[in-house]
Amino acid sequence: MREPRGQPAASFEDFSFTYSGTDSPALEGVTFSIHPGELALVAGSSGGGKSTLLRAMIGLVPQMYPGELVGRALVAGADPARTPVREMARHVGYVFQDPENQIFASTVEEDVAFGLEVRGIPREEIVRRVEEVLGRLGLSELRGRPVHELSDGQKQLVALAGVLALDPRILVLDEPTSMLDPHNAREMLGLVRGLVDSSDICAVVVEHRLGFSMPLADELLVLHGGRLAARGPPREVMERVELRAFGISPPIPGPRHPVPDPPQSSRVALELDSVHYAYPEGTEALAGVSMEVREGELVAVVGHNGSGKTTLVRHLNGLLRPSSGSVRVFGRDTRRADVADLARLVGVVFQNPDHQIFEETVEREAMFAPLAMGFAPEDARRAAAAAMERVGISHLSLRNPVSLSGGERKRVAVASVLSYGPRILVLDEPTVGQDARNRELLRGLIEDIIYSGRTVIVVTHDLDFIWSLDPRTIVMRSGRILADARLSRVLSDGVLMESAHLVPPWLPSSIPEEESAQRVNGPAR
Ligand SMILES: Nc1ncnc2c1ncn2[C@@H]1O[C@H](COP(=O)(O)OP(=O)(O)OP(=O)(O)O)[C@@H](O)[C@H]1O
Ligand SMILES: [Mg+2]
Repeated sequence: MREPRGQPAASFEDFSFTYSGTDSPALEGVTFSIHPGELALVAGSSGGGKSTLLRAMIGLVPQMYPGELVGRALVAGADPARTPVREMARHVGYVFQDPENQIFASTVEEDVAFGLEVRGIPREEIVRRVEEVLGRLGLSELRGRPVHELSDGQKQLVALAGVLALDPRILVLDEPTSMLDPHNAREMLGLVRGLVDSSDICAVVVEHRLGFSMPLADELLVLHGGRLAARGPPREVMERVELRAFGISPPIPGPRHPVPDPPQSSRVALELDSVHYAYPEGTEALAGVSMEVREGELVAVVGHNGSGKTTLVRHLNGLLRPSSGSVRVFGRDTRRADVADLARLVGVVFQNPDHQIFEETVEREAMFAPLAMGFAPEDARRAAAAAMERVGISHLSLRNPVSLSGGERKRVAVASVLSYGPRILVLDEPTVGQDARNRELLRGLIEDIIYSGRTVIVVTHDLDFIWSLDPRTIVMRSGRILADARLSRVLSDGVLMESAHLVPPWLPSSIPEEESAQRVNGPAR
């Protein structure tokens, strides 16, 4: 049963919502509608109400998250506040920000089939649909792999596949490309656009990476402080309002101030010599990685989903040890060094913050490592306070990390490592869920650490984030280093960019000449 085109697929009228136990509304007087065949992009600062809006579309707000609701919503012909979420989910396909919240079964294939089985779809039909959606998302080769053994980007694609297999009328996607390499991010959004064009579904997408999503969207909704601050065709909104004021990084390059090379006299901080690593079930994730990183150096690691970036990072603090080859941290071979000793030197902030947050308050989390390393309680408290201040979470110090947004939890994880001052800081995808202000905060932090003579390794798909620093960039592909050069050099090498799944992060019309020349004219692969 589909509505005729022309009727909105979802509409909100003067909609306000205040979470129980809070004073200020998370959404206030929001009015908008979306029609079949439309793709709406939702952007705005952290805490602006984006996730609340998405939750309200499927009824999680107020059914799972109680609070005071005023106004009206109609989604796929039903009132999401009063229709059981399970019913809403028949029409609304919701993809969470953290794909780990959406893993239902052990293998990729079973996971994607799960929702169809619950609905009692005949077996042959399930097989056909799963096949099709895996093919579309380039996941066919991974079909038999256990989901928990995939890279985070691969998990994100599987979560989307599970939702697409259900043929929803309304797609609701919370940062669906946050862990995808630029090529996959563009393909994925292109796929969503294609679906919206060819059937009468609509999509509501929260995105920070506007360079890929803006050209594909019909509408841009800017949420700020719970209110709809601007709304309209994306280009028009961008011309009309100063996006930065609303916590949005516009997809155009800003000024550049490259970090300097480390001084010749600086010590070698990390030394990797033909590192090979295979996971216990056999996947060869690193296939001969050699590199040297000095004190005071900033190194970005980029490359396609599953290229081995996170596996590489897990080697730097001795969490994984090479199957063959060696990793040395300030001369200590990680095969022989004590893990606690390595942790003092190398602080790793993992891709998924939930893998390293255990304490019940933000402050205790930030104090944990300093205490474990023998700081006196007062010093640990002071170090934690400084770290929380640095990443803009001081106001959250007494909150339970479980109650925070994904972007906030990520900053808690950064503070928990920053607090003990490791000589090498490793950040795996630090910008997931961060608005423009927090991105600038993180970038400033990286610069300060570099200028203080310490080392930073940042693994990222977000080239926009590192662009202004023009760091030394290691490009990974299939467990090997494909290139090692300043980011500006990488961006100007069309062949390299393509083979490494990289895409400049800007709107096509605003790509600087040095960066676009080769891409447009360069030889095809
Ligand atoms: N725990 C694990 N067990 C088995 N295989 C794994 C495990 N973690 C990752 N892999 C596999 O190792 C390869 C490299 O994964 P890794 O997580 O290092 O990639 P990545 O470059 O960080 O990817 P992404 O950009 O998606 O985060 C992939 O083929 C992945 O499926
Ligand atoms: Mg990774």
